[in-house]
Amino acid sequence: MCGIVGYTGPRQAYPVVLKGLKRLEYRGYDSSGVALLHNGKLSVHKKKGKVADLEEEMIGKDLTAQIAIGHTRWATHGEPSDRNAHPHLSASGKLAMIHNGIIENYALIKQELSNKGYTFHSDTDTEVLLNFIEDIQQNNNCSLEEAIRIALKRVTGAYCILLVHQDNPDTIIAARKGSPLVIGIGKGEHFLASDASPFIEYTKEVVYVNDYELAIVKPDELILKNLGNEKVTPYIQQLDIELAAIEKGGYDHFMLKEIFEQPSTIYDCLRGRLDASAGTITMSGISEHIEQLKNAPRIMIIACGTSWHAGLVAEYMIEELCRIPVEVEYASEFRYRNPIVNKGDVIIAISQSGETADTIVALEKAKENGAFIFGVVNAVGSSIARISHAGAYTHAGPEIGVASTKAFTGQLAVLCMMALKIGMKKGTISEERYKKLLVELSDVPEKVASILKNADEIKTIAEKYKDANDFLFLGRGYNFPVALEGALKLKEISYIHAEGYPAAEMKHGPIALVDDTLPVVFIATKDSYHEKVVSNMQEIKARKGMIISIITDGDTVSPGLSNDYFSIPEADEIVAPILSVVPLQLLAYYVGILKGIDVDKPRNLAKSVTVE
Ligand code: G6P
Repeated sequence: MCGIVGYTGPRQAYPVVLKGLKRLEYRGYDSSGVALLHNGKLSVHKKKGKVADLEEEMIGKDLTAQIAIGHTRWATHGEPSDRNAHPHLSASGKLAMIHNGIIENYALIKQELSNKGYTFHSDTDTEVLLNFIEDIQQNNNCSLEEAIRIALKRVTGAYCILLVHQDNPDTIIAARKGSPLVIGIGKGEHFLASDASPFIEYTKEVVYVNDYELAIVKPDELILKNLGNEKVTPYIQQLDIELAAIEKGGYDHFMLKEIFEQPSTIYDCLRGRLDASAGTITMSGISEHIEQLKNAPRIMIIACGTSWHAGLVAEYMIEELCRIPVEVEYASEFRYRNPIVNKGDVIIAISQSGETADTIVALEKAKENGAFIFGVVNAVGSSIARISHAGAYTHAGPEIGVASTKAFTGQLAVLCMMALKIGMKKGTISEERYKKLLVELSDVPEKVASILKNADEIKTIAEKYKDANDFLFLGRGYNFPVALEGALKLKEISYIHAEGYPAAEMKHGPIALVDDTLPVVFIATKDSYHEKVVSNMQEIKARKGMIISIITDGDTVSPGLSNDYFSIPEADEIVAPILSVVPLQLLAYYVGILKGIDVDKPRNLAKSVTVE
């Protein structure tokens, strides 16, 4: 949450930072601001609303700057407003700071500073940390860098901070713990940001800053130190993304682009790994740790949001194909309860961003207890990828739309390959079934493409039901998590209340909601549960609920029970979720846009939840 960006170098810094903020807006968009430093003069500009509102506010102002830092906010402490927007200015007016994260003990520090006579102009924890740093610098008569180090040793919580001081005309000081920071290395210039998207057209050379590291960044110098003031050698990596990957490419929204990219992103995920004709799956992260994985007494899957839904599908896959008991945990629950984790247990961490705070802390906790961590992550080089002992990237490319789509199908593809590979090595799956599933999986991209060709049918359905107040999504077996995901997608971007439920369990509660105004979406593809699901459809129909069903081509029963239906290609039930979720993504998208919602930036949400 919150996007931060900074630039120091020969270019005009403001346009670089403003463009960067637009790219990071998916991380938070309730207010934004910039601090500009030019010839020893520091100015701060900030505005409630989206980055476009800030841009408008800046028209006509002197925007010349050699150095700039910018922030787009997802509010934690203090409502979205101009005064709570970042950057914040210190009491002296000489030091400006932006922050992504939460300082948990800010109230105590604020009290100490208030007792010394400090007054605050915002409700944020950020302004407290900033003045704490300045206070230390003044009292200890030390460098800013030293003051930051002392302050950070006292704070608890998460942060990525960028600071500029009026008296240091070419330097940005940055530090991180728990919130991401990547530094782009140009020729005589440096870029700093929450992810690499703000600067990929300028440089592909990056350094991912680690927790408890401090970066002193000048146009032609990058010094990394730990909090003990020891120098750390920057590890420079090459990025493998192109500008086109983070642009809309002719689509109205990133979400639509990302839905339509799925045939190629799933293909990219399978490419080089799955060879159906040779009957092989090549995944080095698995091969190198196969003993650990196949002999695991149990597997725990830890994730949040959509990634947690992918974990639920994986539970069905792994238990069926590998016969290993699986538990799926919300990271936020796991981290605070007292879970039993034993040496030898395998944890699969699923995350699109690789930066979700709850997931990171849960993994650190499991790691301390001796668990083996396998990361299924989309963002290359992210924190979760680095914490994991081994892993497999989903290779879906940058996902910008707040509602996760292509990352989910990529996660399912990776998890399916994992289950197949472990099951084959363990001998819990027959060769015949293994080979059939390899073919099924390699056919998925083409089948997704054929679903997308009929997207207009979903648009027509969306037009018909867009004014409903509630939706119910029902599925069984592999399609139960898909029902949860369909409901989550609709909630996120249409603001319509939606619940996902196991189709049969619906009798124990949600059935009370059914009347002739309630759309009930059944994921009723042809699988081993199909007849049971058809019975559940009958139960809803008998109570006059409006049935929208996702069915398999050739199903002659479900259409007669449905007010509307959408047909998808036949597939084995293990891979079917990768197909059946696609019409639900489209349904949410079309309902959202028909209701006039900014689907890429729905209210209150953020793409990367880096606070707990
Ligand atoms: C946020 C996003 C969701 C995402 C979840 C977990 O809530 O809006 O789309 O599923 O975080 O994020 P992760 O990056 O760990 O998959």
